[in-house]
Amino acid sequence: MEKKKQRILIAGGGSTYTAGIVTMLLENTDEFPIESIKLYDNFEERQERVAKACEIIVREHNPNVKFSYTTDPEEAFTDVDFVMAQIRVGLFKMRELDEKIPFRHGVVGQETCGPGGIAYGLRTIGPLIEMIDYMEKYSPNAWMLNYSNPAAIVAEACRRLRPDSRVINICDMPICLEEIFARILGMKSRKEFDVRYYGLNHFGWWTQIRDHEGNDLMPKLKEYVKEKGYEEFTPQGQHKESSWLDTMRAAKELHLMEPETLPNTYLKYYLMADETVEHADPNYTRANEIMDRREKDTIEECERIIAAGTAKDTWFASSEHAQFIVELACALAFNTKERFLLIVPNNGAIENFPDDAMVEIPCIVGKDQYEPMSIGTIPTFQKGLMEQQVASEKLAVEAYIEGSYQKLWQSFIMNKTVPSGKVAKEILDDMIEANKDYWPELK
Ligand code: G6P
Ligand code: MN
Repeated sequence: MEKKKQRILIAGGGSTYTAGIVTMLLENTDEFPIESIKLYDNFEERQERVAKACEIIVREHNPNVKFSYTTDPEEAFTDVDFVMAQIRVGLFKMRELDEKIPFRHGVVGQETCGPGGIAYGLRTIGPLIEMIDYMEKYSPNAWMLNYSNPAAIVAEACRRLRPDSRVINICDMPICLEEIFARILGMKSRKEFDVRYYGLNHFGWWTQIRDHEGNDLMPKLKEYVKEKGYEEFTPQGQHKESSWLDTMRAAKELHLMEPETLPNTYLKYYLMADETVEHADPNYTRANEIMDRREKDTIEECERIIAAGTAKDTWFASSEHAQFIVELACALAFNTKERFLLIVPNNGAIENFPDDAMVEIPCIVGKDQYEPMSIGTIPTFQKGLMEQQVASEKLAVEAYIEGSYQKLWQSFIMNKTVPSGKVAKEILDDMIEANKDYWPELK
């Protein structure tokens, strides 16, 4: 049977990732045929530059694909099958504050972890829920594939506020790390093995990795990671930059803390918080690096393409780990039954963990549905860490819904990155001031 051509909306069209995602969609039309690609953003000027460059890329790759861009929600969300959501509320300027304010108080400043992640969460919930509502109004059968950060808090907000919506929250970090495992093992790709993994978003562990014959690959991986971490095999791209390589190296220490497993690198911010703060430059954080490089380079490249009228020699490319988005869409549209690590309600998958926690676990994805795999019981070390983190995330979402200062303060205190109620309060008060254009009023 001929596959139905899909209509895609990229929400957050002005993002530095958009051109790569458009290229990736155009390169995968055999498996995932495309009728149209639309971009949507509320920041007209930022989107327009990216969109005009993408228009040229689409025309040169595949002129049969319809391309358009808009800031109008009705136009954007009408007649789409998939919404790929990658919004960044407050842009890199606000990310800079998410990182710098905690550092000023001696606490980890990070885009998705600790007080910075919570602050970003409170900015993102409203606009994301608004997009879900637009999707349900104008294209009720569409799916939203959300990889907007902070994914853990956003996912919990979806569970609380729109539990029946067709939204799947997913993160690229596990994919990227599994590509590193494949390289350590001398394999071509992560598709050559099957994994067991559990945790929360940016907070999880691999417990089993086996090839398709069932052979255990963990001993070889552990042997390597306990000496060298993940650094050496990090693929080209953003994670190859020096600040990310520090994180990849930290996998070694994280692995030694729980040698039966392989860690998600983001555990560094919780379990190596002191070192992270010691090594940070509080005046020049990751957001500064991105504004000076990725964002600047993207803007220049878009302008260059527009001026030249061609993208034939562009460096924009489909990134290897962005491909999972198409694979996920493909699974939902064409029933491939592929396995993905998704952020979903636990509902008993981890037996000794609350049903209403949003956990990151393997799921089999088929036509219009996903089935979480059963994990069994988890050890006390991971369970304790996850319970604390889930509580922090839930309190953040409750604080948003109720406009509660108290709950947001508790969310900060509960986070393992924050040492005390006093420090939590100092950071929170600075955060309230910095986010006054974005957060609900807290009482
Ligand atoms: C990983 C994470 C994403 C995160 C990104 C940050 O890929 O999974 O959730 O947004 O890293 O990378 P950046 O280059 O923006 O620091
Ligand atoms: Mn992520």
